[in-house]
Amino acid sequence: MAEHPAYPVGLRLSGRRVVVLGGGSVAQRRLPALIAAGADVHLVSPSATPSVEAMADGGEITWHRRPYAAGDLTDAWYALIATSDDAANTAASAEGEAHRVWCVRSDDAAAATAWTPATGHSDGVTVAVLGDSPDPRRTAAIRDTVVEGLRDGTLVAPHHRPQAASVALVGGGPGDPDLITVRGRRLLAQADVVIADRLGPRDLLNELPPHVEVIDAAKIPYGRFMAQEAINNALIEHAKAGKAVVRLKGGDPFVFGRGMEEAQALAEAGISCTVVPGISSSISVPGAAGIPVTHRGVAHEFTVVSGHVAPDDERSLVDWAALARLRGTLVVLMGVDKIGKIAEALIAHGRAPETPLALVQEGTTATQRRVDATLATVAETVVAEDVRPPAVIVIGEVVGVGVPHTPQA
Ligand SMILES: C[S@@+](CC[C@H](N)C(=O)[O-])C[C@H]1O[C@@H](n2cnc3c(N)ncnc32)[C@H](O)[C@@H]1O
Repeated sequence: MAEHPAYPVGLRLSGRRVVVLGGGSVAQRRLPALIAAGADVHLVSPSATPSVEAMADGGEITWHRRPYAAGDLTDAWYALIATSDDAANTAASAEGEAHRVWCVRSDDAAAATAWTPATGHSDGVTVAVLGDSPDPRRTAAIRDTVVEGLRDGTLVAPHHRPQAASVALVGGGPGDPDLITVRGRRLLAQADVVIADRLGPRDLLNELPPHVEVIDAAKIPYGRFMAQEAINNALIEHAKAGKAVVRLKGGDPFVFGRGMEEAQALAEAGISCTVVPGISSSISVPGAAGIPVTHRGVAHEFTVVSGHVAPDDERSLVDWAALARLRGTLVVLMGVDKIGKIAEALIAHGRAPETPLALVQEGTTATQRRVDATLATVAETVVAEDVRPPAVIVIGEVVGVGVPHTPQA
């Protein structure tokens, strides 16, 4: 049977009947792709794993709770045979052969009329790998290499259809280059122009090929900075010139990141914009220092606040009195310079002076450091320990739980 290689094809299963025999781990692995392809999936099995059962309960598949019976493959376009009963598998396979239904068999690939390739997806393309004979480990390894390469940009496959002017607003995560999303990394690898902030995964910029133009949009507090308007104009100009533009931001673009201002400016200029969320420092930096922002029985809420203006500054939009009354965790970004006044305001409005607090500087990077204090001592501690931005400040009982300095992967 298998002297000839398999003929690869993409089945368009939307609305078409697909029969799955057996509700075990093979079905559990294969069903999501069949559901994603829009197939009308009928599972025949007396039992199923909890995940498969949940797909049936959710109406994603139709479950016939019984063993295989002759005639089950009638009207099917395609079948997956994966029961634990050898005789049933053989009988179903013979039925498929007789009725010209392509069948995959989990127990005996050599006897099957179809094989499932190792598949992966990246950027609107499905990569499917088939061996000349069934060798799932090898095909999976080749699939992983290709998909991983497309995702991290080591395999570059340019789009040949002309692309409309567009910009990707990419959240780069808190700093560790491993903490950008797969999509963000892929877009970065495809970029012609990258406009990057000071915060975020700067190391990724070193990996970009020399033809990529990297523009520093550093907004250094109280120092030299490139005005937001200049950044917007640069984005628009490069996109209009037909360049693939990535605006790389620290954390998430919409958490104190001015992401929406840039998206609005692009929309006004008629340029489409893809927003790629990022891991915000507000959660990940405390986590990297061993502090959970919520913890059962300790904090049922966390509030993220900007501390870039002091509580007594008329420009402040933060209700510090209300925050002082909350029991949960308070996470302050951009607050190192004003933490003394912030602590004073919280104490004045009722938070206990001994409330624990931690400052986590340059979180997730090689120079990460955590400094602990209380609301009463933080002003002195910041000076004594020379804590500098960027730092995330966590205030609340969660600072005292967990394992300090939890090792990160
Ligand atoms: C302009 S805000 C941008 C926040 C970003 N969009 C996010 O979601 O993380 C900058 C502030 O984020 C915090 N921050 C960002 N990255 C950090 C890091 N790696 N370590 C400590 N704080 C960080 C600091 O409070 C810093 O002043």
